[in-house]
Amino acid sequence: QDRYAVFGHPIGHSKSPAIHQAFAQSTGESLRYEAILAPLDGFAESLQSFFNEGGKGANVTLPFKEQAYALCDCLSEEARLAGAVNTLSRLDDGRIKGDNTDGLGLVADLERHIGALSGKNVLLIGAGGAARGAILPLLNAGIASLTIHNRTHSKAELLAETFKAYGQVKACTLDELNHSFDIVINSTSASLSGELPNLPHEIIAAHTVCYDMMYGKDLTAFNRWASSQGAGEVIDGLGMLVGQAAKSFAIWRGVEPAVEPVLAQLRNELA
Ligand code: ATR
Repeated sequence: QDRYAVFGHPIGHSKSPAIHQAFAQSTGESLRYEAILAPLDGFAESLQSFFNEGGKGANVTLPFKEQAYALCDCLSEEARLAGAVNTLSRLDDGRIKGDNTDGLGLVADLERHIGALSGKNVLLIGAGGAARGAILPLLNAGIASLTIHNRTHSKAELLAETFKAYGQVKACTLDELNHSFDIVINSTSASLSGELPNLPHEIIAAHTVCYDMMYGKDLTAFNRWASSQGAGEVIDGLGMLVGQAAKSFAIWRGVEPAVEPVLAQLRNELA
């Protein structure tokens, strides 16, 4: 049986093993997928022994995505521009390839909810690792424009500069956020602590779709705020989690599993 694993620290609550085992079952693929707790100072060694023992591929989660990026022999365009890797594959010649499927999972989930993203004006809030990984997949999905807003404006400017060759991207200060967007995506870690980024109500109109990369049993703080401002639809990040896993699975196995059954199951377990 081909072996796969997710590496992280902590890793105990990872949903990846359950998701990938469900994918294996639904696609008829035979594989093993486990969670591995890598020591904070021993990610590279831990990963090396996994591949030495025949591991075929791995997912990488916090806090190792940048380290994973650094040790790859080759990278997908998404991973190169994200500066982070969540999916590692051992190629036939022994080299390690890095992909980043987080942004692809986000786009797939958005498209599942609202259809094609072409022509949409998108506001991305935050300029950390999660934001960075989303930008190229959003631009490649054919959106009309991407506006990046971050509490620390210089970081949004830096991202806009990095990605301007790939599409219509600009950074906006709080004062400049004086109109509505088709889609607003919250990538900040504010939700983790139940906080809310400081945002003007003008960004939300009745047709605005709001997406929080976080998820939970209840509405996230951001989605609660967006709802109260009259957003047309609010979506949380559980589908992005399953979506990124489906893209990783497809890279490894050449077959893309359906996300709906697994998503429904996870949603049930949250309740
Ligand atoms: P991640 O990898 O999850 O993106 P990160 O790289 O540490 O994490 O980035 C965190 C992001 O959340 C940043 O954009 C941060 O804003 P700053 O660059 O100004 O620090 C944003 N963030 C975190 N807490 C926030 C809060 N309470 N309000 C607004 N933005 C917040």
